[in-house]
Amino acid sequence: MNFDSELDGKVKEIETILKAFLPKEDGWAKTVMEAMNYSVNVGGKRLRPMLMAETYRLFGGTDRIIEPFMAAIEMIHTYSLVHDDLPAMDNDEYRRGRQTTWVVYGDAMAILAGDGLLNYAFETALKSFEMTDSDCDRMKIARALSILAKKAGIYGMIGGQTADIEAESLGEKVTQEHLLFIHEHKTAALIQAAMMVGAVLAGASDAQTAFVEKAAYEIGIAFQIQDDILDVTSSLETLGKPVGSDAKNQKTTYITLKGIEEAAQEQKEMSDHAIELLKSLEKEGFRNEFLMELIRSLITRIR
Ligand code: IPE
Ligand code: IPE
Ligand code: MG
Ligand code: MG
Ligand code: MG
Repeated sequence: MNFDSELDGKVKEIETILKAFLPKEDGWAKTVMEAMNYSVNVGGKRLRPMLMAETYRLFGGTDRIIEPFMAAIEMIHTYSLVHDDLPAMDNDEYRRGRQTTWVVYGDAMAILAGDGLLNYAFETALKSFEMTDSDCDRMKIARALSILAKKAGIYGMIGGQTADIEAESLGEKVTQEHLLFIHEHKTAALIQAAMMVGAVLAGASDAQTAFVEKAAYEIGIAFQIQDDILDVTSSLETLGKPVGSDAKNQKTTYITLKGIEEAAQEQKEMSDHAIELLKSLEKEGFRNEFLMELIRSLITRIR
């Protein structure tokens, strides 16, 4: 099978899993559930659940206890986008090819839908406890929850978004080191969580999980560099979100620091290095060719 059709099939599987865990829209709080489901169901690449499932497979995982975590990470990622698009943050009106949640449901409901998705993510991940009788699995699930919580919070994504917002308008005062902190936390942290949870649930050792964290750091930084490049070079039609958002918000990016060519070069080097790191696990018997292809495909992604 070729990579693109395999990828399509996997996206469909992820969307089936997601649908199974999303809330039913009823009762007096129905609007928040509608806004949550709207935000998740409008699409997206589903990269984080995919990286999670493929890292799980890399370490030999085959069980369904991964599924609540796959849904949970996409809910957390989606909440981060719903809040990121708010007028008080990046103030963007399109996301995943549709109007953003705040445009459709209003600011108050978009804030609540984001809060709802974050909380529901943990309600969902906790369901994995009900899927096993094994104490060994319970230990892995507890460890996975702790990784997910930390990487999404003030020492992860929320910390990165904080630094991102505060760096607006600082212009040349933002150094490469400062920008790396922002990219690491706002974007790489959730990619690390995705891959580390996959590893932990499959029974990877602490050393192997730390190794995955390192590779995922490079994948995450590279992913955000490419996001910044596409914000300059792409179009609303291709990207499904507005271009020029970073310039509008006076963000420092790899492009403002180094120009597009150098940014693209570093992005590729980091991705290649991450692939090299993960390939080195083959000598211990851990191999997943699709995962390598997936990471390679991110280097030249156009959306
Ligand atoms: C967008 O993430 C936000 C970043 C961290 C760059 P994605 O590019 O993965 O967005 P979707 O999920 O495909 O919409
Ligand atoms: C956002 O970075 C990362 C998040 C945690 C949401 P951006 O602000 O560049 O993401 P996009 O370009 O709006 O998707
Ligand atoms: Mg932003
Ligand atoms: Mg944004
Ligand atoms: Mg962006």
